[in-house]
Amino acid sequence: MADKARIAVIGAGLMGHGIAQVFGLAGHEVSIFDTVAANLAQVRSRIVANLRDLGDDEAAAERVRPCADLGETVRDADFVVEAAPENLALKQKLFADIESHARPDAILASNTSVIPITSIMQGLRDRARALGTHWWNPPFLVPLVEVIGTQWTSPQAIAWTMELHAAAGKKPAHVKKDVPGFIGNRLQHALWREAIALVEQGICDAETVDTVIKAAFGRRLAVLGPLENADLVGTDLTLAIHQTVLPAIDSRPAPSPYLEKLVADGKLGFKSGEGFRKWSPEAQAALRAKVVQHLKKARAGDA
Ligand SMILES: NC(=O)c1ccc[n+]([C@@H]2O[C@H](COP(=O)([O-])OP(=O)(O)OC[C@H]3O[C@@H](n4cnc5c(N)ncnc54)[C@H](O)[C@@H]3O)[C@@H](O)[C@H]2O)c1
Repeated sequence: MADKARIAVIGAGLMGHGIAQVFGLAGHEVSIFDTVAANLAQVRSRIVANLRDLGDDEAAAERVRPCADLGETVRDADFVVEAAPENLALKQKLFADIESHARPDAILASNTSVIPITSIMQGLRDRARALGTHWWNPPFLVPLVEVIGTQWTSPQAIAWTMELHAAAGKKPAHVKKDVPGFIGNRLQHALWREAIALVEQGICDAETVDTVIKAAFGRRLAVLGPLENADLVGTDLTLAIHQTVLPAIDSRPAPSPYLEKLVADGKLGFKSGEGFRKWSPEAQAALRAKVVQHLKKARAGDA
């Protein structure tokens, strides 16, 4: 991998500007494209504000070059990452355009949250260089990037991408099969399904679910993954627990009717002031600030 790669980011929104920031801070030359001029105009000031807040080198923003032309943005790039809206047709069209302008050896990646990489990339002429890189928000505070290969992706493209992200200070994880939710969101939403079921079944209220997680295994999760934990307590004990517990926990292959009713009733969470719980503007701001503080502390601890 080149120490100084040329990176093109497509989409300068929440994820795109943060991804550009990480690569700029790692010393790469970054070009960034957006169809909305105002978003492109703001990208550098957003990055400077983030860098300042984190105490990172503000010169990194100078390595991020906003560009209003897609062809020019990707023409010289070694690596192109798309962070445009979560819409299959839009992403397919973008990658067809990107492929027509990019160098034949450039690696092409999508930061889709849940759309199979196979569906996005199937129309490309060269699918061996196409893959997924799934970042987590905010990109400059959450270390993980899932690197997803399809049946066509070359091992070289995966290896180069893993190295690029590791060298930029991220924690890349290789997802060997292009399955919905990759790894992180499958795990996260298995937990959310049971969290909702506990409330739906009247076992506890929503606040209690969150308290139980945050005050118990949530405390350990950042340093003790579930499979490390299973080994720690013993696979025999894990088996005995599963024999009793698994038949009792939710395994419905569809969203909970409780969740569907919340949405139908307009209880959309922060944006409507109520979801599983009620949220005043002050409570929303306090929770957002608490999460960012926590992530900043964790990042400082990693350094
Ligand atoms: N927000 C998250 O927490 C998160 C986490 C992981 C992955 N993702 C994924 O990342 C992608 C981007 O999400 P986001 O939250 O940054 O969205 P966003 O709405 O903040 O940003 C999308 C940007 O793309 C621009 N855009 C629209 N059409 C475009 C086009 N044709 N070409 C280039 N740019 C275009 C928009 O103007 C906007 O600036 C989505 O696929 C999303 O699912 C989001």
